[in-house]
Amino acid sequence: MSKLYIVGLLLVSWSCLVAISQAKSYGFDLSTDNDNAIANYEDNDDKFPSCEIYCTGNLLHTIQTANPKLFSDSKTFVDMKLNNSPDKTLADFEALMQAKNQTPTSEDLKKFVDEYFSPKGTELEAWTPTDWKENPSFLDLISDPDLKQWGAELNNIWKILGRKMKDEVSKNPEYYSIIPVPNPVIIPGGRFIEFYYWDSYWIIRGLLYSQMHTTARGMIQNFLSIVNRFGFIPNGGRVYYHGRSQPPLLTGMVKSYVDFTNDDKFAIDALDTLEHEFEFFTNNHSVTVKNHTLCVYRDSSAGPRPESYREDVETGEEFATEEEKELHWSELKAAAESGMDFSSRWFISKDGTNDGNLTNLATSSIVPVDLNALLYWNAKLIAEFHSKAGNIKKVTEYETKAEKILQGIQEVLWNEEAGVWLDYDMKNEKPRDYFVPTNLSPLWVKAYNISESEKISASIMAYIEKNKLDTFPGGVPNTLSYTNEQWDAPNVWAPMQYILVEGLNNLNTPEAKNMSMKWATKWVKSNFKAFSKDRHMYEKYNADQFGVGGGGGEYEVQTGFGWSNGVIIEWLSKHGRDISTGAAGGGGAAATRVMSVVGVAAVTIVALIAGRFLWQSWFK
Ligand SMILES: *[C@@H]1O[C@H](CO)[C@@H](O)[C@H](O)[C@H]1NC(C)=O
Ligand SMILES: *[C@@H]1O[C@H](CO)[C@@H](O)[C@H](O)[C@H]1NC(C)=O
Ligand SMILES: *[C@@H]1O[C@H](CO)[C@@H](O)[C@H](O)[C@H]1NC(C)=O
Ligand SMILES: *[C@@H]1O[C@H](CO)[C@@H](O)[C@H](O)[C@H]1NC(C)=O
Ligand SMILES: *[C@@H]1O[C@H](CO)[C@@H](O)[C@H](O)[C@H]1NC(C)=O
Repeated sequence: MSKLYIVGLLLVSWSCLVAISQAKSYGFDLSTDNDNAIANYEDNDDKFPSCEIYCTGNLLHTIQTANPKLFSDSKTFVDMKLNNSPDKTLADFEALMQAKNQTPTSEDLKKFVDEYFSPKGTELEAWTPTDWKENPSFLDLISDPDLKQWGAELNNIWKILGRKMKDEVSKNPEYYSIIPVPNPVIIPGGRFIEFYYWDSYWIIRGLLYSQMHTTARGMIQNFLSIVNRFGFIPNGGRVYYHGRSQPPLLTGMVKSYVDFTNDDKFAIDALDTLEHEFEFFTNNHSVTVKNHTLCVYRDSSAGPRPESYREDVETGEEFATEEEKELHWSELKAAAESGMDFSSRWFISKDGTNDGNLTNLATSSIVPVDLNALLYWNAKLIAEFHSKAGNIKKVTEYETKAEKILQGIQEVLWNEEAGVWLDYDMKNEKPRDYFVPTNLSPLWVKAYNISESEKISASIMAYIEKNKLDTFPGGVPNTLSYTNEQWDAPNVWAPMQYILVEGLNNLNTPEAKNMSMKWATKWVKSNFKAFSKDRHMYEKYNADQFGVGGGGGEYEVQTGFGWSNGVIIEWLSKHGRDISTGAAGGGGAAATRVMSVVGVAAVTIVALIAGRFLWQSWFK
């Protein structure tokens, strides 16, 4: 009898090995091209030569606050191109103001705008990426034919989102709000017609999975060139974002590129620039809490956000003094730097809770888990790149910086009682015990003590259970507060699902990996359902409904959409063999598991029969 089992077991093991080797065999095109020198792009003298038009001043104020309003979206005006030099435009505008006794009508202003500005978007032209591939290899990794077809359609969207700046932009940057960059880009889509900083991380990963290494590298080189010119990366590719950045992911982009191409030289050549950006955050965003140096989101400009000028003037009306208004605007812009504009995450009400509205924003008084986890990751990656270059002194320097940030994260942000990391409220000197996906961001970038994975996993799983994070049909919402702000419930965002799923996967315990796969599957299927229905990818979705786009906030839900597409392409690449569109709402993985149980059972039965046959033929 024992022989029969052994033969059966051998056959089962063999079928498992085949399955594993198939899962591992998906390779990527690792071809590199060594032209990775940072483009030597020269900007004109002034850093932001068109800022006197687009960032601040009387012209901006008068046009953006005209009554009745000239544009339904405040961003439209600041994206328009000048027809004359800034000096002539300003002089002629002052003449108009004088002629109209400082009170021009909306009609007067409309005439002025029509004459002195060209429609938005005229500085950009559609661009088909030269490295776009009809059949990127990730499509071969998708079993379900409907998902494979969808993957191909998402791959097609890269062509729709490609943009190139006209040559005249870099010749006459003072005529444009756009920040000139040397290489074409993939934009998020919708009203976001220029590149954005943190969006680009997920876009670039999607491009890498789509084997578009040249486009990905070009976008990273743009960012490196921007750091070299300005000392940091503005929120997006417009001069009016000059006072703020976004979550620092440039070093992570370089790491992604190097992981896909093995082009270590690219990382080594970028090191000076990456260190520079790291210092921008650690020098210009730091606070001291409980004797630890940590960073907060903040902004260094004055006035309302130019692209949401009218909205900011309106919320500013609730404050009596200019000083209070300025403070309010700086908190709005700091929230925009976090990428989460807006969210109850950044509200501190009088009673120290997250109740309230935009007038309660206190972003710069809240030490955010994600920013510090990212800076830890940046320091670790910079150390890693220095070690590739053999620069031991720098490796030690950056390992030490990473260690210090990690201590701060552990002692200020880890919360033993909640069993998770929490943002810290410096005003009230207490942790903010509210769910945000970023509470789990240290898992994503491994900003925790790996030897304690088991303990952390138990505690995180309890946190997920307690907050019922697994109960939403359309993904994990950004917070549990329903405020009608776009980074609150019920909205769900691709980058946040990504942080949760990849973070849980990193923990590497069976429960955490199980939840990770479950959430990835749910996300893919929910996005697929929405796409099948509406033929769109959205910038955000609805946690309360399976397969539905999001809403709320300052503008209509946008379609396109760079980071949503990037995350889906990555997960189709990683999990496309295990997800099927079969049963609704997250049933796919379970169905796949049932199938694999059936498969193993079938193989076992065949093996047992074969074994019995062999047994009989050997011994009878
Ligand atoms: C960063 O802070 C330094 C002073 O600490 C300042 O000189 C510099 O202009 C700031 N950089 C930016 C980009 O805001
Ligand atoms: C704060 O840190 C410094 C060194 O980093 C140390 O000398 C000092 O004792 C610490 N203070 C407290 C209150 O822990
Ligand atoms: C915001 O809350 C304050 C009270 O904290 C209230 O006075 C104000 O009307 C609210 N504003 C809006 C736009 O709801
Ligand atoms: C990491 O955890 C292990 C096991 O609990 C502990 O011995 C070690 O001191 C921890 N390291 C740090 C840097 O906290
Ligand atoms: C994984 O999840 C399934 C349901 O989704 C559950 O039945 C199973 O017990 C989980 N396994 C582990 C190890 O948590």
